[in-house]
Amino acid sequence: MEWWREAVFYEIYVRSFQDSNGDGVGDLAGLTRRLDYLNDGTPRSLGVDALWLTPINPSPLFDFGYDVSDYTAVDPLFGTLADLDRLITEAHARDIRIILDLVPNHTSHLHPWFGESRRARTDPKRDWYVWRDPAADGGPPNNWVSSFGGPAWTRDEATGQYYLHSFLAEQPDLNHRNPAVQQAMERVIEFWLDRGVDGFRVDVIHKMIKDAALRSNPRPAPEEEHPVKHYGGLLHLHDEDQPEVHDIIRSWRRLLDRYGERAMVGEVYLFDPARVARYYGNGHDELPLAFNFSFLWSPWDAAAFRSQVEQIEALLPPGAQPTYVLSSHDAPRHRSRFDDPAHGEARARLAAMMLLTLRGTPFLYYGEEIGMRDGFIPAERVCDPVGKRFPAVGRDPERTPMQWDGGRMAGFTTAADAWLPLAEEHQRINVAAQQDDPRSLFGFYRRLIWHRKRTAALTRGDYRSVDAGPDNTFVYLREHGAERRLVALNFASEPRPLRLAPGRGRVELSTSFERPPGEVDLASLALAPSEGVLLAL
Ligand code: GLC
Repeated sequence: MEWWREAVFYEIYVRSFQDSNGDGVGDLAGLTRRLDYLNDGTPRSLGVDALWLTPINPSPLFDFGYDVSDYTAVDPLFGTLADLDRLITEAHARDIRIILDLVPNHTSHLHPWFGESRRARTDPKRDWYVWRDPAADGGPPNNWVSSFGGPAWTRDEATGQYYLHSFLAEQPDLNHRNPAVQQAMERVIEFWLDRGVDGFRVDVIHKMIKDAALRSNPRPAPEEEHPVKHYGGLLHLHDEDQPEVHDIIRSWRRLLDRYGERAMVGEVYLFDPARVARYYGNGHDELPLAFNFSFLWSPWDAAAFRSQVEQIEALLPPGAQPTYVLSSHDAPRHRSRFDDPAHGEARARLAAMMLLTLRGTPFLYYGEEIGMRDGFIPAERVCDPVGKRFPAVGRDPERTPMQWDGGRMAGFTTAADAWLPLAEEHQRINVAAQQDDPRSLFGFYRRLIWHRKRTAALTRGDYRSVDAGPDNTFVYLREHGAERRLVALNFASEPRPLRLAPGRGRVELSTSFERPPGEVDLASLALAPSEGVLLAL
């Protein structure tokens, strides 16, 4: 069994996890110091198995690292290659794997490749990026728009041509139809694998290849228009998700497989799960894992979660492993999304139970284990380029510094201030306040994660929905050989009796502190408001 199928991943927004040199920005040495918190081999620690580090490459930070100016180096802000080596060694000593963020779709406009490419139409690197003449009216070559707003094309005075950028003008798109670019990116992958990293999270992998003729996108029917899916008022038919991207992914998979068991999780930011499923290929020849973001967009509703799970279970090819995510650096934190004055904490425990007991690889986001909510960012402190253009959807609130303790800077930094303001509630919500409290959210995550490790039905078992619940409950079975676990989740804020077939079960874990572990009669099992239980059958 490949390790990434059983692992619990933990996303670290490196800038915000732990500062070690007092500059107010998180770094690799700081992260290394916190490894024991993440997994010291005992159930005192959180117990995660793999860390995904957001980009650590040199970057002028127009998009906070997602604009890379050197793919095979570490930004001095985060440390050195030696710091990374030390992190990898220390992590491996604790059985923690490290995956890096790979950003192949675009570089920084300050990457030397782009510097050469923009020099002249005849430059040997010209075709490493996507350059086109203006349209007849002098405007952009087609109607494509940037995911961050405005046209996806910028005219470069030096040569009078436009270059393509799916995101900021400071993030020109590489031309992955050019074999030289493909080779260069494979060398980057090899560079890090040779250094001992355990794999990659691949940024917007579905965008790497665009329509060969760069045709304009059609418009959706007005009644279908969706602000996010159809950003810019367009159907994204030609600017992403092209068939040839799968050739590149197959070639990357062959490369990965040459190194033994390395992971790759692709950010396939598509709304149609059937299209996401295609990035697994036949289940063994493309991505080992693809992000499934459906929970990020889900209402707090049992039927909605159940249908998302059943959909992905039905769509994946045999052997393919689903993934689940509740929060990330690109979306409001789920502790805020699903908040409720009376049930907020209980909901956080329920969501965690779902995330960690479904069939699939779970990805946690730093701080969710202590219930971090979105921070408040005053207008003058906004950093995120999206937040500067569209304040309502800025991504700074979910990127505030990790809340280690109730001190002035929460144990994150010794500097007078951090790069983003701390969430004010850090005085109450922090690791130190929860670490020794079994009733804390951290205590619950920790118990759940260590329990999962010991329970093959949860890490390897099949998944089956169970029709046992009244309204707003979600019940499922996980089975591995003779080992059977039943998970029953109540999304309602009222109690819910279940309708399970008669039999005996043993409560292993409940999100409610009131329910004692031990034997129960299944036929008379009722869930408390917002309660989830995990039962051995
Ligand atoms: C991905 C990243 C996001 C970044 C964008 C452009 O969606 O997760 O943070 O801004 O790609 O690289």
